[in-house]
Amino acid sequence: MHFFAYKNGELYAEDVPVIEIIKEFGTPLYIYSYGTIIRHIRAYEEAFCEVPHIICYAVKANSNLALLNIFAQLGLGADIVSGGELFRALKAGIKNYRIVFAGVGKSDEEIEYALKNDILMFNVESEEELYKINDMAKKLKKKAQVALRVNPDIDPKTHKYIATGLKTSKFGIPIEKAIEYYKIAKSLDYIEVIGIHKHIGSQITDTKAYEEALSKIINLYDKLIKFDLKIDYLDIGGGLGITYKDESPPLPKDLANCLLPLLKNKKGKLILEPGRSIVGNAGILLTKILYTKKTENKNFFIVDAGMNDLIRPTLYGSYHEIQPVISKDRDRIVVDIVGPICESGDFLAKDREIEKLSPGEYLAVMSAGAYGFSMSSNYNSRPRAAEVLVKGDKYALIRKRETYKDLIRNEIIPEDLL
Ligand code: LLP
Repeated sequence: MHFFAYKNGELYAEDVPVIEIIKEFGTPLYIYSYGTIIRHIRAYEEAFCEVPHIICYAVKANSNLALLNIFAQLGLGADIVSGGELFRALKAGIKNYRIVFAGVGKSDEEIEYALKNDILMFNVESEEELYKINDMAKKLKKKAQVALRVNPDIDPKTHKYIATGLKTSKFGIPIEKAIEYYKIAKSLDYIEVIGIHKHIGSQITDTKAYEEALSKIINLYDKLIKFDLKIDYLDIGGGLGITYKDESPPLPKDLANCLLPLLKNKKGKLILEPGRSIVGNAGILLTKILYTKKTENKNFFIVDAGMNDLIRPTLYGSYHEIQPVISKDRDRIVVDIVGPICESGDFLAKDREIEKLSPGEYLAVMSAGAYGFSMSSNYNSRPRAAEVLVKGDKYALIRKRETYKDLIRNEIIPEDLL
C-alpha cells in the first residue's frame, strides 16, 4: 500500500487530500507520511529481530524534531555528524546511550558536547582524532567510548558524491591500518574501544557491496578479538537505496538475509544507520506552477520550488518522479520543470513527459523525504519551506514557513564601522 496515492484523480497523503494541506499552508511545502515512516522502521526491526541490534537513524537525512520524536518514541537511536544534530536528537528525546557520532571533522566543541552527554560512541575517522578525543576526555575526567570507522575500500556502485568507502575517499581509516590504530586506541587512557564502524555509501541498490564490506570487517573483527580488544558493537552504517524511478533496491529483510549468516557466532550488538530508506519515500515536496513558457526547442513549467528547496536533481542529477496534485485525462507535454532561482542548474526535472498543466496548478515531487529539506538553503534569499506531518486523517505543521525576518535574524549592520 502506498500512502501517497490518487483517489478520483486527487493526490492524497494518507487520508488527507494534498490540496487541502496546500490551501492551508501554501507552497513550497514538504508533506511527510507517518504511516510510511512507521512501516519502514517495522521492516528494519522485523528483519533484524533475531540479533541484538540498535537502529540509529541517520539524522542528516531529515532532521525535523517531530520526525526525530517519532524515532525517540519507538526507542531508536541516532547517527549524528555534528553538534547541531546531537542537540536536535537530544531535544527530540533520543537517548544519549543510543547515539553514535561519525564525521571526519569533529570540532573540539562538538567532542566536548558529546562527551558531556555520554553518547554511546564516537566513530573515529583518523589517528589525530583519536588523540584529540583522548585529550578532551582527560580534561573532562571521562572515558570516551569509541569505534574506529574503517574504510573497507569497496565500490558501492552509486553516485560518486555519495560513495564513502573507497580508498580515495576522505572517510574512515584505511583497513590495512586498522589494527595499528586499534592498538593505539587501546593504549590511550581515556579511550575505551567498544566497536567497529563502516559506511560505504548511500542509495545502494544491490546487497553485493554490503556483503563484501561486511566480510572484510568481520575478518578484522576476528583479528581484533585475538588482540584482546573488546568489540561490543558492530556498526554497519546506512546506505540502503530506495525507488526513485525504476530501481528495485533490496528491502531490509533482503539485507538481513545476506548479512545475518555472516554474523553467526559473533558476539555483540549490531548497529544500523539507515536514513534515506526510512524517510525518503515518506516525503513529498509540493510546488505551484507559476508560469508555463515555450521557447524554440523547449517547454518549461516554472514552479515556486527551486534548488534551494530540493538540491538533489542539481547536485547529483537525481531523478524524482513528479506528479500533478490533481490529475486529469488531458494532453501530455514534454517539459523542463524549473525553479525561480537565477542559475541554469536550478531544475527539478528535465525533458519530463507530464500532463499539460496550467499556471496555478500544483505538482508533487515524490521521494523527497530524505536529503530534501535537510539540504535546503536560503539561496536567493528565499525563506525555507514549511513542513507538515500527516497521520491518517489528521495533519499538523511541524515547521513553519520561514519569514523575511527569519532571513536577516542574525545579521548586523555595524554602525561603528559604516
Ligand atoms: N551513516 C553515515 C556515516 C553516513 O554518512 C550516512 C549518509 C548514513 C549513515 C545514512 O545513509 P542513507 O541510509 O541515508 O543512505 N545527500 C545525498 C546522500 C548523502 C549521504 C551521506 N551519508 C543524497 O541526497 O543522495
